[in-house]
Amino acid sequence: MSKTESSVTVIILIGGEKGGSGKTTIATNMAAMRAAQGRDVLLVDTDIQGSASYWAANRDEAGVIPRIPCVQKFGRNLAVEVRDLAGRYGDVIVDAGGRDSAELRAALVVAEAAFIPIQASQFDVWTLQRMDELVASARAFNPGLTARVIVNRASTNPVVSEADEVREVMGDFEHLSLAPVVLRDRISYRKAAKAGLGVVEMERSDAKSKSEIRRLFNEVFSENSQADSEGETAVSA
Ligand SMILES: Nc1ncnc2c1ncn2[C@@H]1O[C@H](COP(=O)(O)OP(=O)(O)O)[C@@H](O)[C@H]1O
Ligand SMILES: [Mg+2]
Repeated sequence: MSKTESSVTVIILIGGEKGGSGKTTIATNMAAMRAAQGRDVLLVDTDIQGSASYWAANRDEAGVIPRIPCVQKFGRNLAVEVRDLAGRYGDVIVDAGGRDSAELRAALVVAEAAFIPIQASQFDVWTLQRMDELVASARAFNPGLTARVIVNRASTNPVVSEADEVREVMGDFEHLSLAPVVLRDRISYRKAAKAGLGVVEMERSDAKSKSEIRRLFNEVFSENSQADSEGETAVSA
């Protein structure tokens, strides 16, 4: 495997304390789309449930190209291991969650950017409060860390605006900002996950899910890849 022309390695964390918020969905979609650009992407699964690993195994069994390597890693030493892995891959996407998780804390210390999905229907301010604190602690070691909240599984009914509800409280959190892209509750995400695919790789997934996940992808990687064209310029949000 060779690194592509733009060899700046990006470490992205898709994290958060709540289960079922969409971390694995977003991590696997980002990995599939990044790999489609010809990058050597590694998925790091820190969840004991192994959903990301399961997705990657399904993908392998179905013979989907490009294949996406996935490793499971646990424990406090994750920061060191991820740094080491980042030296060997084009990009590393870490899927980390769980309350008081050593892996989540460790990943916050090595990531350039953290994205924190929250499920619109079970949105709770305390979760964000806690993430704000974790990001604040991590920034003591990792001052360039950016942390964005992504509203996921929002209602497809345009009248219901869960995103507005979240936007209203975001001002309370010094270390978090809100991603402009909202992902809605769409069956395509579940179907793609089962098949070891990203939604953009599924012929029959709906155009809306493809469009919103592409917008998210651009947000996740374009900010960070600015460093590719601007030398060492650090990007902060
Ligand atoms: N935008 C979405 N639309 C529909 N289903 C979703 C969406 N995001 C996640 N899901 C589904 O919700 C469940 C939990 O998502 P998952 O990514 O596994 O969460 P986490 O990794 O945070 O525990 C999965 O069954 C997944 O397919
Ligand atoms: Mg998961």
